Amino acid sequence: MCDLNRRSIAANSGHLTGNAWAQNEPYTQLECWYATGRLPLPAAAPIILHMSAQPRKIILGVTGGIAAYKSPDLVRRLIEHGADVQVVMSRGAQQFVTPLTFQAVSGKPVRTDLWDEAAEAAMGHIELARWADEIVIAPATAEFMARLAYGFADDLLSTLCLASSAPITIAPAMNRQMWANAATQANVKLLRERGIRLLGPESGEQACGEVGVGRMVEPARIAEEIFTPRGGAGVLSGLKVVVTAGPTRERIDPVRFISNRSSGKMGFAVAQAAREAGAEVILISGPVQICTPLGIERIEVESAEQMLNAAQKQVADADIFVAAAAVSDYRCCEISSEKIKKTSDTMALSLSRAPDVLATIGRSESPPFLVGFAAETENVERNALTKLNGKNLDMIAANKVGDGLGFDKDDNALTVYWRDGKKELSLTSKIALARQLVELIAERYRLRKQEPKALRKSAVNVG
Ligand SMILES: Cc1cc2nc3c(=O)[nH]c(=O)nc-3n(C[C@H](O)[C@H](O)[C@H](O)COP(=O)(O)O)c2cc1C
Repeated sequence: MCDLNRRSIAANSGHLTGNAWAQNEPYTQLECWYATGRLPLPAAAPIILHMSAQPRKIILGVTGGIAAYKSPDLVRRLIEHGADVQVVMSRGAQQFVTPLTFQAVSGKPVRTDLWDEAAEAAMGHIELARWADEIVIAPATAEFMARLAYGFADDLLSTLCLASSAPITIAPAMNRQMWANAATQANVKLLRERGIRLLGPESGEQACGEVGVGRMVEPARIAEEIFTPRGGAGVLSGLKVVVTAGPTRERIDPVRFISNRSSGKMGFAVAQAAREAGAEVILISGPVQICTPLGIERIEVESAEQMLNAAQKQVADADIFVAAAAVSDYRCCEISSEKIKKTSDTMALSLSRAPDVLATIGRSESPPFLVGFAAETENVERNALTKLNGKNLDMIAANKVGDGLGFDKDDNALTVYWRDGKKELSLTSKIALARQLVELIAERYRLRKQEPKALRKSAVNVG
């Protein structure tokens, strides 16, 4: 339950309609009034407090980016989910929004200073670090991420992050160049490796007028992510599933690249279906314009090499790897540092093989259960089985592409092959198809677990 010391409450109890009704969840709807001035919250948006015996205690760190104007809304949404929220602001954040705003929406004085004598006398920084069940930083600036990555403790928020054992989730927000900068990306990598969860950033229009990756994930969604269990009941419960999706891009020069028509829809659908089936899901995606399904961590990559690096890192402790990305087969032998000029009527690009993500994972010492995709324009079965064998896969999902089939469509059909069997999954929406595929993966995964090791990778007939 949120801290109601500062609020008087008019409450009425009952049962919710909709989802909560269906689940027969008890609830109490509370209308909160601020003790000082009895300011009602906007009537159109009553706070629904989901009552629980133990409220989730969340430190919401706000750092100095333009997206800080959205953070009061996040406080409100976390409280709606039943959280007890303590806001901690960096110095930069106070340039954008005042602590008073956060005090009003959270019902608690905001903490801003490590050197606050009164606060240290009462709930000092170590107590606050111990108090938190979870630390959420939204927005997280490039600067704050750098300080977090390097273990700085030069303000209250960074000190809390170091001193707390609570899980940390950050929602970065910044100009797209700042996000793409090698220094920021190196920090992102470090933070991920240390188990810090990143939500976003998303792609879209930015406050600076540019368009690209760097927008903070919307508050409603951050709150939902925080309260969505990362794994649950279902056929993949307790398993970690890594999914690749979308195309890759191989650069030619600063403005051109080689890519393909993959939209990422199938891979995203598989990730969503695996998540629904209870798995912890990591989605490694090439450049696509699709929102990340709830409860899934998305890692964005561009080239085949980046996809391979991310996949190798993620599969180390994964149970299942589903490679739905359309990875470029070839890349330029040399990437021009300047835009190539049209100086002659013809030009030839010299290409070499790009890394084969799936085959490389298949050759590793103890690969997870491997599922590949084969998008073929002809000889679908033969090519799929060749790939199943050649890449040491456990399953392959094959489909015909071209002539309006497969890429960038909302519907698809698949034939799934494994060592001694196959199954047709007929034309339906990609999410319905993905759910069927996930059922099949779970079934084959369990059977493989029961097989003696020697039997696991014997060849299939290429018909
Ligand atoms: C108007 C303005 C907007 C800014 N927006 C962002 C932003 O969206 N993301 C970011 O990483 N930094 C942004 N900055 C830079 C940060 O405010 C700056 O790096 C600051 O030192 C961050 O400190 P903090 O992380 O401790 O709050 C902005 C700066 C200004 C002046």
